[in-house]
Amino acid sequence: MKLGFVGLGKMGANMVRRLLADGHEVVAWARGPDSVREAVSEGAVGATSLEDVTRQLAPPRVVWLMIPAGDPVESSIAALRPFLSSGDVVIDGGNSRFSDSARRAGELAKNGIGFLDAGTSGGIWGLKNGYCLMVGGRPQDFRLAEPIFKTLAPPDGYAHVGAPGAGHFVKMVHNAVEYAMLQGYGEGFEMLQASGYDLDLLAVARLWTHASVVRSWLLDLLVLALEGDPKLAAIRGFVQDSGEGRWTLHEAIERSVPMPALADALFARFTSRQAESFSAKVIAALRNQFGGHAVTPEK
Ligand SMILES: NC(=O)c1ccc[n+]([C@@H]2O[C@H](COP(=O)([O-])OP(=O)(O)OC[C@H]3O[C@@H](n4cnc5c(N)ncnc54)[C@H](OP(=O)(O)O)[C@@H]3O)[C@@H](O)[C@H]2O)c1
Repeated sequence: MKLGFVGLGKMGANMVRRLLADGHEVVAWARGPDSVREAVSEGAVGATSLEDVTRQLAPPRVVWLMIPAGDPVESSIAALRPFLSSGDVVIDGGNSRFSDSARRAGELAKNGIGFLDAGTSGGIWGLKNGYCLMVGGRPQDFRLAEPIFKTLAPPDGYAHVGAPGAGHFVKMVHNAVEYAMLQGYGEGFEMLQASGYDLDLLAVARLWTHASVVRSWLLDLLVLALEGDPKLAAIRGFVQDSGEGRWTLHEAIERSVPMPALADALFARFTSRQAESFSAKVIAALRNQFGGHAVTPEK
């Protein structure tokens, strides 16, 4: 089918490639003209603005957004809206907060415009392996866009999971699970490194990929990373987060759902970014005050 595609970064460019390879017609736009030129060289039709994307589509138009959550999605939908009409559908494939998606769906529905929140997992490997798609929204909007999901996902790799917002809720929790899994591997390999046995971490990682209960795609990726850099000497232990862990924790608190593994993993990321811990300074100072325990002076 013919669709508009907005955002041609690490995710969007590959998704457009996968759509083109399966015979879809893609009208592509991104802020950077270079990424549009590249998509055009691979078979997409280039657009010069969000308005131009809508002009090049016939109703019912479908426009996929693959851009950062927050203001980029908010302002792009606001810019698209005047050029969309009843029956058109906007799909947000990024990692937006589910409550924002539910609100956006409600606002667009006032003009009869559909909205699907398509939580997308698969990273840069999605071009080859396909993307797992968790879609929230109205059933009629899902049906209209289903040929797109069928192409982007591997067999059985997409589903309509519920009402508007449900797709991004499921994706948010998916990422919370990912936080805990990454933390588990991180802690395990730190312990292996500290074993005193001079273990070959790459060999252990490879070993675990064979029938062990902790084998997984993440472990396969760790094997790739260790093949490139067996002691991860070239990268700092500095870990960013992009929101889903925090949002899941907020929702867990609201619903009194215990998620200590997520909380630990999220706070470990915060710790990874600190050059110095003020809380550790406070603890050292107090131990010195009450027990005369030695402190380590600043250099
Ligand atoms: N990377 C992953 O593994 C992954 C996996 C699943 C979901 N996601 C989600 O997918 C979305 C895109 O991620 P990505 O990794 O492809 O990011 P990316 O490589 O940084 O690309 C972002 C794209 O959005 C465009 N963009 C940025 N700000 C914009 C704005 N204010 N208005 C319009 N377009 C804007 C960028 O255009 P310019 O380059 O021209 O600035 C670029 O085309 C995000 O929501 C992300 O959380 C990412």
